[in-house]
Amino acid sequence: MSSVNIAIDGPAGAGKSTVAQKVAQALGYLYIDTGAMYRAATWITLEKKIDISNTNEIIAGVKVADIELKPPDDSSRGRIRVFVNGDDVTMIVRSRIITRFVSPVSAIAGVRKILVAKQQKMAERGGVVMDGRDIGTVVLPNAEIKIFLTASSEIRAKRREQDLKEMGQIADFKTVLAEIEARDLFDSTREESPLKKAPDAIEINTDNISADEVVEKILKMCRDAVY
Ligand code: DC
Repeated sequence: MSSVNIAIDGPAGAGKSTVAQKVAQALGYLYIDTGAMYRAATWITLEKKIDISNTNEIIAGVKVADIELKPPDDSSRGRIRVFVNGDDVTMIVRSRIITRFVSPVSAIAGVRKILVAKQQKMAERGGVVMDGRDIGTVVLPNAEIKIFLTASSEIRAKRREQDLKEMGQIADFKTVLAEIEARDLFDSTREESPLKKAPDAIEINTDNISADEVVEKILKMCRDAVY
């Protein structure tokens, strides 16, 4: 099968990374978790103790950093590993503190410019499954397959709560739900590349179907696209 690019967008907790990883594995494609890149940018900001309103310093910090994604290993519990200047920040970028600040950092146009350029470079030869918020609309507008994954906020919050518990973090359902709804609102109403379904994306609601069923649907779309 010749290599296509697959863009998967949607709100937090819709199941993007599980589905994207499985699709990538089935096709032998590279999985790129763009949310992890914005989380790494947020980690850089907090680590350097840059004030969240100081956009110029945040952009400068992200510009000089070497943000790298690597395939999962035993230590990362199935997650893509994230490195900043060689330091493994895989687990810390998933923490609540990073989640709290990632929306404002990812709303900065200069930060997006740097990371979008990296993402486009990684996809230039095809054969990637990339997930995020603006992949089908901005990063890979010519992707052959575009998916917009959704689910009710309650289901998404349940999944996040489970995720956090698995990482040993304290999670209370009501708080997680409030956080997820606040983040959705912020991500979908920001000026720069808001979370939005591309007009040519196929929307799949994952409330009542398993990740494997979604993967099957996407693999079928790929087969139909290339043959
Ligand atoms: O998918 P995630 O929860 O790890 O993403 C973290 C944040 O990064 C999310 O709240 C919005 C931002 N993000 C973005 O603005 N654009 C992307 N392509 C991916 C993530």
